[in-house]
Amino acid sequence: MGKTASIDSPLTLPSGLVLPNRIAKSAMTEGLATRDGLPSPSLLRLYGRWAPSGAGMLVTGNVGLDEDHPVRPRDVILRRGVPLAPFAEWARVARAGGARVVMQLNHAGRQTPRLVNGRPLGPSTGAAVQVLRAFGEPRAATEAEILDVVRRHGEAAALAEEAGFDGVQVHAAHGYLLNQFLSPDVNRRDDAWGGDVARRARLLVECVRAVRAATGPGFSVMLKLNAGDFLRGGFTEDESLEVLALVDRERLDLVEISGGRYESGASFGHASPDPGPREAYFLSFARRARQATRSPRMLTGGLRSRAAIDAALAEGALDVAGIARPMALVPDYPRRLLAGEPLPRTQAPRLGLRSLAHLEGSAELAWYYRQVARLGAGRDAAPSSSAMAALVWFLATDASAAAWTRMTRAMRRAFAPGEHAALTEGTRQSH
Ligand SMILES: Cc1cc2nc3c(=O)[nH]c(=O)nc-3n(C[C@H](O)[C@H](O)[C@H](O)COP(=O)(O)O)c2cc1C
Repeated sequence: MGKTASIDSPLTLPSGLVLPNRIAKSAMTEGLATRDGLPSPSLLRLYGRWAPSGAGMLVTGNVGLDEDHPVRPRDVILRRGVPLAPFAEWARVARAGGARVVMQLNHAGRQTPRLVNGRPLGPSTGAAVQVLRAFGEPRAATEAEILDVVRRHGEAAALAEEAGFDGVQVHAAHGYLLNQFLSPDVNRRDDAWGGDVARRARLLVECVRAVRAATGPGFSVMLKLNAGDFLRGGFTEDESLEVLALVDRERLDLVEISGGRYESGASFGHASPDPGPREAYFLSFARRARQATRSPRMLTGGLRSRAAIDAALAEGALDVAGIARPMALVPDYPRRLLAGEPLPRTQAPRLGLRSLAHLEGSAELAWYYRQVARLGAGRDAAPSSSAMAALVWFLATDASAAAWTRMTRAMRRAFAPGEHAALTEGTRQSH
């Protein structure tokens, strides 16, 4: 697979899903749900822009499995009991241009913002994520809570299939809960869920199995995995290759390779493992990954030009090219790429505070969040807008969204306390 592939050749995944070409929109958190965590008119408008983008596959922004652990307070949440009609509408709108549509499932764990949850779940107790004091100290998940995370993956996948999505992607990258279990500096457990690589990977493997067991044979099951955390003491490239070999048994339809956690800038190429040109900054790892897995591989991170993608496809380093940030600025970027049209440079402005790398990183992310929100509002992106304005907008928007979310949740729990009470009971058993 891959050697003779070109950017516009279709790809048949192991479960039978056919991607019409080799360009995929990679996941970008939209933060555009309703107050109840459901797909909103803005979210549908956004996917109306991306549906005819020319991408062969659209991976949604992360959909939360647990309303207490989103990445942003207005993330879409999919769990038992939510109405499925808005999700079916989301899938319908996103597929209207011929792209396959895959829902990314995520539990943010200790990377849940403090504004939503001051005591987030993690593999172990320990220090909070050290970025802008935005995160609380994690508490160690009990066995019951770990099994609950596994169960939620299966349930959400079954619901996504029922709503009409072509597949789901289990998110084990970028420092979220499944990545936290993989990272030895964060996962200090010495039970069945921590220790050597196999035990640190157990949660990921169990989640993939739960998703597979809950869905039909034609439904695609994908994984997003870090090439490495690129932090001292974190998950390494060699360990990532071991994990790929371990999950190979699970017959994944596609493995997306990315890297980094909030504390490192690697996801955006700022602590790039591949020096030199900024395109495809996990390319050397992708080459190594080829030996470790039989699953088709998607590579994301810095890919921008047809020449770079063609070359990587031709050498078999990847089967699918993932593109994220350009899609927030130029919603039909893949179509232009496939047509060989000139592509605008797409780069966020800097605050200019070199010594405050985390602030720069947050401003960059905020700037892209804001572009995505503009598309959702039916406007065009504003490439000349400032990073500082985006950061202020982001802090204000998410703070007020978090306040509303907390109030809505508190009211719902006051009237229907059943499920929540059962879970908090579980968390009281000390681990
Ligand atoms: C605004 C924004 C939101 C993102 N949200 C997610 C997400 O929800 N899930 C995920 O796996 N990656 C997310 N990412 C990371 C991208 O999927 C991708 O890995 C990264 O941007 C590198 O690819 P690029 O160079 O093509 O942008 C996000 C990136 C941006 C800019």
